[in-house]
Amino acid sequence: MTRLSAITPSGHAHLGNHLGALRHWARSDGPDDLYFVSDLHAMTVSYNPPRLRSLTRELLAVLVASGIDPSRLCVQSDLVRELGALSWVLECTCSYGEAARMTQFKAKGGTAARLGLLTYPVLMAADILLQGASKVPVGDDQLQHVELARSLARRFNASYGEVFVVPEAVTPPTAARVRDLTSPDRKMSKSTRDAAGVVFVLDDPDLIRRKISRAVTDSLDEVAYRPETQPGVANLLEIYAACTGTSPRDLTFPTYAALKSAVADAVIEELRPIRSGVTTLLSDPAELDRIRKAGADRARTRATHRLDSALRLAGVA
Ligand code: TYM
Repeated sequence: MTRLSAITPSGHAHLGNHLGALRHWARSDGPDDLYFVSDLHAMTVSYNPPRLRSLTRELLAVLVASGIDPSRLCVQSDLVRELGALSWVLECTCSYGEAARMTQFKAKGGTAARLGLLTYPVLMAADILLQGASKVPVGDDQLQHVELARSLARRFNASYGEVFVVPEAVTPPTAARVRDLTSPDRKMSKSTRDAAGVVFVLDDPDLIRRKISRAVTDSLDEVAYRPETQPGVANLLEIYAACTGTSPRDLTFPTYAALKSAVADAVIEELRPIRSGVTTLLSDPAELDRIRKAGADRARTRATHRLDSALRLAGVA
């Protein structure tokens, strides 16, 4: 079994990324598992190139500091030639309607949107299929994209010959969708303009406490796990449960203030080692460069055979 997943450097990593994804990746122990920084995906909307380069480096450091085995890490653009080739093959396996149906495209798309925003799930399918991944650990928001990768793998295999493993998504038992602290109707996101509701993995402890103390709750004044009617409180309970290994339904707190204070303590402790690890790693550029290069060599070696077979079966190259 090969697990594979990625994080896009469209902003700083946040608590949702950590609880919904990164900390699960750190428990992964398959020799062929692969986790990467998907910098090519950050080009689908307007962006600043020097900032992208620096966020890519920062996220690679966050992945190492989160405890993921450095030998399982890489940066997506180091495989841009292989991925570009497979993406084209898969774009010619995918219909326009299938790509346009993706909810992320429907939310951000429009006639002025970059074409890459429409084809981005196909590049994601290439990421997965190129490496022969069988399990793709993701939060809820990425399920539709993994579903597309499954369809494209099946369709290619049936049309041209068996070459791709059909992947399966795996979602975490808790915190699959951490919500914004000030707008609990939406998910916590890297690209949110107002950072008051987003706890970043590298925020200092005082700032984390301040953001959590200002989290939106409700006027019921009752700490109970009711996601439909008390989404703000339910989100805080889920965050606390995910940090402490408990279940949100079993938790009791006398007041909202007590809940927020406990959540802040738990989140600060959860993120402390990552913040300190990233500081150390960013002060040693040679070590990060070495990790990046070794990861790229390994991922490329593994991908070449499958890419060659796919091109041959498709009647080209
Ligand atoms: P990205 O960078 O948006 O998110 C990285 C991971 O974090 C999860 N996540 C969340 N989990 C819980 N609560 C949240 N609020 C929250 N926000 C994000 C995401 O589900 C994801 O698991 N397209 C992908 C990256 C990608 C990829 C891949 C993933 C590129 N290629 C191949 C899997 C396989 C993305 O932009 O994730």
